[in-house]
Amino acid sequence: MNDSKNFVNHIRPRFVPEGALRVLYTFCLGGVSFLAFIVLGVTGLLLMFHYQPGDNAFSSILTISSVIPYGGVIRNLHYWAGQLMVVTVNLHMLRVVWTHSYKPPKQLNWLVGVGLLIFVLFLDFTGYLLIGSQESGAAATVAVNILGLIRLIGSGLAQILFGEPSVLSGSTLVVYVWHCVALPMVAFLLQLYHFWRVRRDGGVRPL
Ligand code: HEM
Repeated sequence: MNDSKNFVNHIRPRFVPEGALRVLYTFCLGGVSFLAFIVLGVTGLLLMFHYQPGDNAFSSILTISSVIPYGGVIRNLHYWAGQLMVVTVNLHMLRVVWTHSYKPPKQLNWLVGVGLLIFVLFLDFTGYLLIGSQESGAAATVAVNILGLIRLIGSGLAQILFGEPSVLSGSTLVVYVWHCVALPMVAFLLQLYHFWRVRRDGGVRPL
C-alpha cells in the first residue's frame, strides 16, 4: 500500500484500539491544542481584513478593537486562544513525558512534537511583535540584538526573521508574513503528520 492511500486510511480508521479514547490518559491536551490552533486560524484570518503591518500597526489594532463590528471579540478570541495553546502544548508535552510516550516506537513523533513546540512559541512571539506597541518594539530589538551576537550569520538571520523593526514598534512586513502565512502553514502540515504518526506508532495507549 502506498503512503498516500495509507494517509487517507489513517484519517478515517476502521477501528480504534480499546483504551485509545481514555480521557484520563491524555486529558485531550493534544486535541485542545489543535482546537486552539483552528480558532487561531479563523480569528487570525478575520483580523487580517483590517490589520496593517508596519508603522500603522498599533492604530489599526485600536481600530479593530473599538471601531470594527465584533473586532474586539475577534481580537480577544485570537489572543486567548494563543495563550491557551501555549499552556496546553506544554502540558501535553508533560503528559507525554509522564506516560513515557517519548520512548520507541514513538521517538520520531516526540521530535516532531519538539518542532511543533518551537513553531508555537515562534508564532506566539511574532504575534506579540505585531501589536506594534513600544513593548513589542523593545522585544524585537532585544531579539535582533541577541541574534546579532552570532558571528557571521547573526545579522543576516535577524534580517530574515524580523526585517528591520524599530525600537517603537516590532511590526514589520517580514514578521507579518511569518506570523500569518509561513509559520501557520508549516505548523498545520506538521500537525497533520503528527496525528498520522500517532496512529502509525500504534495509537495512544500505554506502551
Ligand atoms: C501544535 C502542537 C501539538 C498538537 C496539536 C499535538 C497534538 C497531539 C494529539 C491530538 C495527540 C494524540 C493524543 C493526545 O491528545 O494527547 C498527540 C500525541 C503525541 N504528541 Fe503531540 N501535539 C502537539 C505538540 C507536541 C509536543 C510539543 C510534543 C513533545 C515534544 C508532542 C509529542 C507527542 C507524542 C510523543 C504523542 C504520542 C503520545 C502517545 O502515544 O501517548 N506533541 N499530539
